[in-house]
Amino acid sequence: MELAESLNKTHDELRQGEAFTPISSTPKSSKKFYIESYGCAMNFSDSEVVASILNSEGFGATTNFEEADLVLVNTCSIREKAEQTIRKRLTEFRKAKKSHPGMLIGVLGCMAERLKAKLLEEEKLVDLVIGPDAYRTLPSLIKEAEGGQKGVNVLLSRDETYGDISPIRLNTNGITAFVSITRGCNNMCSFCVVPFTRGRERSRDSQSIIAEVEALVNDGYKEITLLGQNVDSYYWVDEKNGAQTTFAQLLEKVALINPNLWVRFSTSHPKDITDDVLHTMAKYDNICKCIHLPVQSGSTRVLQLMNRTYTREWYLAKINSIRSILPNCSITSDVISGFCTETEEDHQETLSIMEFSNYDMSYMYFYSERPGTLAAKRYVDDIPLEVKKRRLQEIVDMQGILSSRSNQNDIGKTFKVLIESTSRKGDADWQGRTGQNKITVFPKANKGFNPGDYVWVKIENCTRATLLGNIVDGPTQ
Ligand code: SAM
Ligand code: SF4
Ligand code: F3S
Repeated sequence: MELAESLNKTHDELRQGEAFTPISSTPKSSKKFYIESYGCAMNFSDSEVVASILNSEGFGATTNFEEADLVLVNTCSIREKAEQTIRKRLTEFRKAKKSHPGMLIGVLGCMAERLKAKLLEEEKLVDLVIGPDAYRTLPSLIKEAEGGQKGVNVLLSRDETYGDISPIRLNTNGITAFVSITRGCNNMCSFCVVPFTRGRERSRDSQSIIAEVEALVNDGYKEITLLGQNVDSYYWVDEKNGAQTTFAQLLEKVALINPNLWVRFSTSHPKDITDDVLHTMAKYDNICKCIHLPVQSGSTRVLQLMNRTYTREWYLAKINSIRSILPNCSITSDVISGFCTETEEDHQETLSIMEFSNYDMSYMYFYSERPGTLAAKRYVDDIPLEVKKRRLQEIVDMQGILSSRSNQNDIGKTFKVLIESTSRKGDADWQGRTGQNKITVFPKANKGFNPGDYVWVKIENCTRATLLGNIVDGPTQ
């Protein structure tokens, strides 16, 4: 397997390509839909909104696409490889459609938005193309497609947040859930397609966020992740009384809903995360001490070309603030190798900023030029593929060292862990995560705990990706 493929696979395993079945309120209708999601957590969260819209139209879910009347693929355009994977999958669905002529195939999400009606020409048997802001029109587009017309709606909106739609949780473990707080992105990172596929940034009504989290708590959920491409720029003004809510204030409101609910959030942009957010995190035990703070590059020159709007020094200062306000916080990152004009010196700066930041985990990619982005228009994609891959391998090796070191440092410490499931290692062990978001495996030892319980685990050993320990008594309060 090629390096790029194997690395993306690691990422994909976390974020891509799962088929989901809603577990709740399947209607009596004979019509069935199948949905598969690719890309970031926002897409997975959107699929839950789509499931809710379809559910109220009388569609029930299936995990077998061959028996579905409607097959939907919620797509990602972030790198060329992501689109290739989806195209391959669409050819399989096209084959199924040949033996099931009434079947409708729909492309949702970022690839639908990027390619628009072109998708109908390229993928001859696709019937529906629906962008991320047009899901409310799904029912009418399905009717058009059932009548033999192609249904396309890729209009982006300035205010759609689906705030009033109660998502149907898909493939849920009943313990952890995503809650969208913003849509779109106003940053124009030059490499990134998201501002074009998701449109302008907008924040969701804080009341609807609180109501969704309260409903999740009532349903027994133990951990929620507040989602946005740039959560720190969340800002809501209540039309009735003019009350303003910043991200730090929203975080506090959500943390106060229930002290037994773990609260996470992603993604933070280094230019926007404030000390207010860090102090709010410090104030509440149930806000998990974990920040995803993508650096992308360690070179100020490259960061400028990327239009990230911060320098190496600014980023380092943010790391220092996090370390001083939240000494036990884990920090994770996204890193890109081989961006346009990147020199060996720039690359060394990326390795050194990773080392300084001491990341617990990173998502790592080589640069993939995306049509229509600022970088595609302004710069030549001039770093040869083998150089991008070699630098990426050095970045991966650096992260390997940092992750091992970080896990080794946890040996002997005791962490609160939320049990999520039986371990993949075997039935005798539980698997959960610490507040720092590290996967932790430990023997069940007949202690009567269940998924959804918090336990205290003393770490005895580790691998590069997992902490290994034993359940112990928690601290007495
Ligand atoms: N909004 C988040 C941020 O600003 O970090 C996440 C954006 S994107 C969904 C996730 C990651 O994909 C980015 O942080 C970046 O590292 C990577 N990425 C985006 N565009 C890319 C490209 N053209 N080539 C390679 N990696 C890319
Ligand atoms: Fe893309 Fe930058 Fe927006 Fe993240 S902040 S989604 S990398 S444009
Ligand atoms: Fe992909 Fe769109 Fe997310 S491009 S990473 S699914 S916002």
